Amino acid sequence: MTNTKDISHLGKATQLTLVGRNTDEQHGFINPPLYKGSTVIHKTLDSLENNRGKYFYGTAGTPSIESLETAWTHLTGAAGTVLSPSGLGSIALVLLSIVKTGDHILISDSVYQPTRNLCNGILKKFKVTTEYYNPLVTAAGIEKLIRPNTALIFLESPGSQTMEVQDVPGIAEVAKKHGVKTILDNTWATPLFFKGHSHGIDITIEAGTKYVGGHSDLLLGLVSANAESFPALRNTYESLSMLPGAEDCLAALKGLRYLHLRLREVERKALILAKWLRSRPEILKVLHPALEECPGHRFWVRDFEGSTGVFTILLREGFSRRNFEAMLEKTTIFKMGYSWGGYESLLTPVNPVSFRTAQAWNHVGYAVRLQVGAEDLDDLKRDLELAFERLSEPSKPRL
Ligand SMILES: Cc1ncc(COP(=O)(O)O)c(C=O)c1O
Repeated sequence: MTNTKDISHLGKATQLTLVGRNTDEQHGFINPPLYKGSTVIHKTLDSLENNRGKYFYGTAGTPSIESLETAWTHLTGAAGTVLSPSGLGSIALVLLSIVKTGDHILISDSVYQPTRNLCNGILKKFKVTTEYYNPLVTAAGIEKLIRPNTALIFLESPGSQTMEVQDVPGIAEVAKKHGVKTILDNTWATPLFFKGHSHGIDITIEAGTKYVGGHSDLLLGLVSANAESFPALRNTYESLSMLPGAEDCLAALKGLRYLHLRLREVERKALILAKWLRSRPEILKVLHPALEECPGHRFWVRDFEGSTGVFTILLREGFSRRNFEAMLEKTTIFKMGYSWGGYESLLTPVNPVSFRTAQAWNHVGYAVRLQVGAEDLDDLKRDLELAFERLSEPSKPRL
């Protein structure tokens, strides 16, 4: 495999083309081969009994899994990486690698909703107490919430529906002082636009399903950890044995090759659309981390190296449900659906009122999350213009 130390001085895009492969070891072929397997043959009894070989058994690692793990460790600047069959699987793995019965955990009120279900369901069953905190909490504010039995602080920055950007280094510093682990769901920014570990985070999570995959046909999670947190994480990973298939690892590696170009392109288009949407009369607010009115924008300016293609618009009050349905259902370029990071643009209604518990969500109108894909900007804009026309149509009496 390419020695990652040898490529650290290169530009980001170049590094993405080199990680996780070595043409010389691949008989000249550019992409690494696919290794699928359970049994590994050992030539000596000592190797079989004492795990002396490079590989031991399929669940303990294969060259295909290792290629992606090595690539991700390099890109995140971590000590090590483990993979999961989905982003949510990664979140579960990380939480289980840290908590024990009787612990208290702090979770951002902006988290991806199924993270909340995991905490309120399985973790509660094991008597782990979850407390949700305002994502805009200050470092001093989070310190007040830390208890003697607090095991971890979970951050998602920006929150993937409500877009608040968190004071990641501030929270991480306080956590470290109290011996509390920090976990960051970094899916929105990816390590190209935000480096969690160099901002003090112990464990970062990436739903590879989104930007890494890039084509809405991959389910994958990547977890990177610093030296202190990696052994427990690796141990839990091996005990649970929930790993992705070899094809998915290679698909993710392919997804990395053009990731930088794809992100820069969706960044460009999303920013143009976000600024244009700000001027639309139907819209109250555009929550895009790179725009001033987004809560926590100053942390984005301070800490991030770019923005991606997902942001949320808050509509003014007063539109009927019927018009809102017409707005969403009749678009031709934007489609309705969950997830993001693929080439197709999506509109997803979001309703934070229904799940926020630490910090009430005060906006009463509809809210919609946009995922900007690979389509032409003019087509996307025209599709939204027509959508707004339908939203504002005078309601017709039902016959
Ligand atoms: C921020 C965030 N984290 C994690 C996930 C989970 O990823 P997956 O769909 O691969 O389980 C999602 C999915 O939408 C997400 O938006």
